[in-house]
Amino acid sequence: MPRYIGLISGTSMDGIDAALIEVAGESISLQAYLEVPYPADLREELDRTVTTGTASLPGLAALHVRIGREFSAAALSLLGDAGHSSEDVAAIGSHGQTIWHAPTGRFPCTLQIGDGASIAVHTGLPTVCDFRSADVALGGQGAPLVPLFHEALFGHAGKPTAVVNIGGIANITLLAGDGSGELVAFDTGPGNTLMDCWISQQRGLPFDEAGAWARGGRKHSGLLERLLAEPYFTRMAPKSTGRELFNLAWLRERLATEAWQAPEDVQRTLLELTAVTIAKDIQLHQSGGDAVFVCGGGARNVLLMERLAALLPGRRVRGTDEVGVPAAALEAMAFGWLAHQRMTGQAGNAPSVTGASRPSILGALYLP
Ligand SMILES: Nc1ncnc2c1ncn2[C@@H]1O[C@H](COP(=O)(O)OP(=O)(O)O)[C@@H](O)[C@H]1O
Ligand SMILES: [Mg+2]
Repeated sequence: MPRYIGLISGTSMDGIDAALIEVAGESISLQAYLEVPYPADLREELDRTVTTGTASLPGLAALHVRIGREFSAAALSLLGDAGHSSEDVAAIGSHGQTIWHAPTGRFPCTLQIGDGASIAVHTGLPTVCDFRSADVALGGQGAPLVPLFHEALFGHAGKPTAVVNIGGIANITLLAGDGSGELVAFDTGPGNTLMDCWISQQRGLPFDEAGAWARGGRKHSGLLERLLAEPYFTRMAPKSTGRELFNLAWLRERLATEAWQAPEDVQRTLLELTAVTIAKDIQLHQSGGDAVFVCGGGARNVLLMERLAALLPGRRVRGTDEVGVPAAALEAMAFGWLAHQRMTGQAGNAPSVTGASRPSILGALYLP
């Protein structure tokens, strides 16, 4: 039974999620999981790069290698903790760190850094990375890439099922549930990123633990409406987004025209924005659904989970933990599975989701 390691740091840029999975035919199981926070100076450098859209060339080239080394170290710690050696693993799938995502325009592009050669050399393992470029070259969004994995995990429930991944950005996958592979999936908009930006700016904290600060605030209806007026929310899929759009500058522009008082009211309103946009899109694109499985760091935000449940009456909203898949591990597992797809010559994208002109084997392979 081949084993793979999946590595990712998402748009939150909080650190690396590493998962060791085993793939046996249709069945995929998690063997071990690890979260490795980025050092504070690395997080700051990445944040600066992404939010200002600028970096020096020497700085960027060095960052590419530094992240590759951080990813290798995470993979080696994971193996050590799990009591495995490199020989037990077929390949690594490394998403890397997105620093720019602009899949539309004259030169559609998406850029993930984290040097694959470094990862292959330091771990001794074949390493697949740069998963998104092929889909973008085929006219697709390059995102989301997790839906086929969601289908593999949850697509045989016998009834319509929704999977919600709440990272920095949130994405939903709506599964027909009959194993037909019929998929609707796209980025709904901000997940945690605006909440993280706001609490970081106001209180110097990286995130709002369990949503407790937001709970002390009140939803500001005028502000919520103003935020919801963003055209992205009503654009038709395929669509994907990132911190190039949803960032502190975007929020500040909207705050400037609304009379708000308490910063916790803003936090509460940002949480509502995430919940409302996800719930609306699920209701719009899936009727008769029952289960809603939530993964990503947002599943740990208790108030956000409560609001999703309230906005989706008649559906059971649960963290994927409750069905045996740790919510924080799921996206890393997906990139381990995408490495399996690459190594076995199978497509990793769903053209109906990304808008690519055809299915494609995704990723560039580096050998140790
Ligand atoms: N205990 C928690 N309470 C509230 N929010 C949390 C908690 N743990 C993580 N988060 C949120 O989840 C984010 C990280 O989620 P993750 O799935 O790693 O996102 P990404 O894929 O964008 O890196 C954090 O930045 C934070 O906003
Ligand atoms: Mg993360």
